[in-house]
Amino acid sequence: MRRPYIAGNWKMNLTPSEGKAYASALAEAVKKAGADCRVMIAPSFVSLPGVVEAVKGSDITVSAQNMADHLSGAYTGEVSPEMLRDIGVNTVILGHSERRQYYGETDEIINGKVLLAISLKMEVILCVGETLEERESGKLEEVLKRQIEVGLKDVLPAEMDKITIAYEPVWAIGTGRTATPEDADAAHAFIRRTVAALYSDDIANNLIIQYGGSVKPGNVRALMAKENIDGALVGGASLKLDDFLPIITFNK
Ligand code: 13P
Repeated sequence: MRRPYIAGNWKMNLTPSEGKAYASALAEAVKKAGADCRVMIAPSFVSLPGVVEAVKGSDITVSAQNMADHLSGAYTGEVSPEMLRDIGVNTVILGHSERRQYYGETDEIINGKVLLAISLKMEVILCVGETLEERESGKLEEVLKRQIEVGLKDVLPAEMDKITIAYEPVWAIGTGRTATPEDADAAHAFIRRTVAALYSDDIANNLIIQYGGSVKPGNVRALMAKENIDGALVGGASLKLDDFLPIITFNK
């Protein structure tokens, strides 16, 4: 059984004080609603300590949105995974399309980060997804296969329980244009088959695959009803309780 996993990627939004106040309210609301899915929020680096404190005692997971590809040293402006662990953050989003597009992260760089995170026993959400151009030129499967094969290179079968994959079609992020539940499910099924071929049916069947790209209270149910969609990685709609809570409680 794959437990639904709903995650909020705040991206570069909410100040540390706003984030802390929102996280407290969210923890309270999730508890009151008796949500039965796993809930995660990913604030910016500077907001992490306050948010970790705000959700203490709740079941909410706090994740980073990125991390350095080294443990320490002369890497100005970077944040080490050891620093994250030191403040109680053991989960990280890696390979988000905005990191790939705007900051030049390649599959190889992302793989280095995945391996580093895993070596520290951290959990990883590995983001994959095609651009509109890639989809329209029939390259969807080729792109997903490469992102998964290279992104997970040298990750051992026994370490796959630390990995969640988020399918985020680039053309659906922040555009209000969601993949249809059928299209998303087909991409998720392909991702599962790819992982089965690389590892085993068992590992593929246990893998949580989140969908991301304009998930809203109004479309989450139809997406989550699909066989291969196990969760959501939510951007814009994760920034307000009024939007995020109904997504978390989609099955209530
Ligand atoms: P939106 O929900 O704002 O489209 O963002 C999706 C996303 O990129 C989550 O990581």
